[in-house]
Amino acid sequence: MRAYRAALLRFADDGSALYEPDGFLLVGPGPDGRKLVRAAGAFDTLAPRYPGVAVEHLPGQLIAPGFLDLHVHFPQTDVIGSPAEGLLPWLETYTFPHEARFADPAYGAAVAEVFLDELLRHGVTTALAFCTSHPASVDALMGAARSRGLRLVAGKVLQDRHSPDGVRDATEQSLLDTEALIARWHGVDRLGYAITPRFAPSCSEAQLRGAGEIAARHPGVWIQSHVAENLDEVRWVRELFPAARSYLSVYEDFGLLRERAVYAHCIHFDDEDRALMRDTGAAAAVSPTSNLFLGSGFFDYAGARRIGMRHGLASDVGGGTSFSPFQTMLAAYYVGREGQTKPGLSLPPQNLWWQHTAGAAQALGLEGVVGNLQPGCEADFVVIDPRATPLLARRTTQAATLDELLFALIVLGDDRAIARVHLA
Ligand code: GUN
Ligand code: ZN
Repeated sequence: MRAYRAALLRFADDGSALYEPDGFLLVGPGPDGRKLVRAAGAFDTLAPRYPGVAVEHLPGQLIAPGFLDLHVHFPQTDVIGSPAEGLLPWLETYTFPHEARFADPAYGAAVAEVFLDELLRHGVTTALAFCTSHPASVDALMGAARSRGLRLVAGKVLQDRHSPDGVRDATEQSLLDTEALIARWHGVDRLGYAITPRFAPSCSEAQLRGAGEIAARHPGVWIQSHVAENLDEVRWVRELFPAARSYLSVYEDFGLLRERAVYAHCIHFDDEDRALMRDTGAAAAVSPTSNLFLGSGFFDYAGARRIGMRHGLASDVGGGTSFSPFQTMLAAYYVGREGQTKPGLSLPPQNLWWQHTAGAAQALGLEGVVGNLQPGCEADFVVIDPRATPLLARRTTQAATLDELLFALIVLGDDRAIARVHLA
């Protein structure tokens, strides 16, 4: 057992923040050797109950749950900042040619290390990630995450049509590969598998049907895809699937909406789509830096709240512009202005932070496992230095409330503020 004394941020079940300016976090090994949170709260109350335990004092620092990234493409680490008129030309011009390089397993293995370094430097301790259509890219990322003890859910991209040579896969083989990768990686240590149809336009009906059948055979496996990101994409789906009520309902028709299904973007939705997400237990990965960079549109937070659609935050690197949860939360704050019906703040900082931690864990079906520091959670946490830069130090020293502190970090923070990362 080991304890830490610092300011401590956690979340209650209703999503509100729990904050101890002088906090105590006790961690100890769980049944499988992974470290779990054993106690969390005020130092004065808890410390006397554990007299023999070594306490590391981190004065002036803030302990918070490790961040979750609900949607990120590991092979797009080197695509960040590639400008295009919109999603479809961006895919054709930069993304598909770059992903073709992952046919070489050695290339994929090298990028996997860089990618995981970036996640951890930015305090991201759990990610739901796309690999490429090459099965070796999954082996590379899973193997590297396993060595580091990182919690990761990832999958081989399915794309058997409207995709160039080098990334297009073959229907039958892609489904066999998916089954084999589930058997190899799902449930190994902290790893999980996600069935990963790239998006409806890149998958034949046979491939989508096969993906849905695999999902039905493996209820604990995740599903991830993209939906309703860009208006040209939405029009294309209408042409390809004329019988479907909406873009989202294509996925429903193939059995790809359920708990543990995470759909990136969900911008061009109506309330029927939002209700379908809610009723099936699927969740939206909101990716504001990507949506602003590619000009895709603005996620409708008011609509998500009104209907009760689950959602959390994601970088969507490399459409997204940064691995930093601070950047993503700030972009979400800007986007939350859109569609605001009453004057006032956009999203409160506690909610932005929740969307990247406990709320994201709820979207992934990993509530009580990661994304929080309540007793029983895996001990994935970051030590944040509110004085990491001169301006951040000035600003956070003058913060009188938790909201002011969190806002200062969201607006001025970056990877320099992540002093340490602890993985279970
Ligand atoms: N839609 C299909 N593929 C992609 C991708 O790689 N990134 C984004 N942002 N949208 C997609
Ligand atoms: Zn994406």
